[in-house]
Amino acid sequence: MSNETGKPEFWESAFNEKHEMWGFEPSRSAVLTKDLFVRESVKNILVPGIGYGRNAQIFIDNGMAVTGIEISKTAIEMARKHYGTAMVIHHGSVTDMPFDNNKYDGVFCYALIHLLDESERAKLIRDCYDQLAENGYMVFTVISKDAHTYGQGELISKDRYEMFGGVRMFFYDKESIHAEFGNAGLFEITEVTENYPFYLIKCKKGR
Ligand SMILES: C[S@@+](CC[C@H](N)C(=O)[O-])C[C@H]1O[C@@H](n2cnc3c(N)ncnc32)[C@H](O)[C@@H]1O
Repeated sequence: MSNETGKPEFWESAFNEKHEMWGFEPSRSAVLTKDLFVRESVKNILVPGIGYGRNAQIFIDNGMAVTGIEISKTAIEMARKHYGTAMVIHHGSVTDMPFDNNKYDGVFCYALIHLLDESERAKLIRDCYDQLAENGYMVFTVISKDAHTYGQGELISKDRYEMFGGVRMFFYDKESIHAEFGNAGLFEITEVTENYPFYLIKCKKGR
């Protein structure tokens, strides 16, 4: 039986085997989001699926307070080792949000939501929106159907495939982005190339 993404064992073994597998440089999406957050005077942010922190330190360096949520204990220990205790990190699954009663003026969620199933994705968007302060921003990066891996592996449901020894991924296009984020303050979709072609999805509360 294959592992399922979202189960802690999958990510525990990934971080145990591959350690700091994405290096220490922030992704392009994190840099672009930092620019938006600085422009909009965002002060405290929530980062669901924070990993070992490589996409979070840039926000701290720019004067923001960061709270993360992460399913892998090993990744949290790595974040502590490299970046100290400046980030608060809740250990658990985003499917169990909320982990606190705080309101955040920014949410940054990188390469996580496409790992979830349809109802988990809807709940994550709702939970992030609920934790957003009025006029707050949330930014999600998601894998695009333009990725060469789209259509590989076993079809689970429309646009969702099981691949890479157990990873399940939902591949987005503009239509599915509108369908899922349309009621959550969606105001911009741009394309950004990371290790795969991604979309950068921006939402604002209270427009
Ligand atoms: C593709 S990685 C992106 C990591 C991070 N954003 C980065 O780029 O450095 C997905 C991250 O989300 C975490 N994760 C996966 N499923 C999760 C869940 N259900 N709840 C919380 N974290 C989860 C993984 O452990 C991993 O750190």
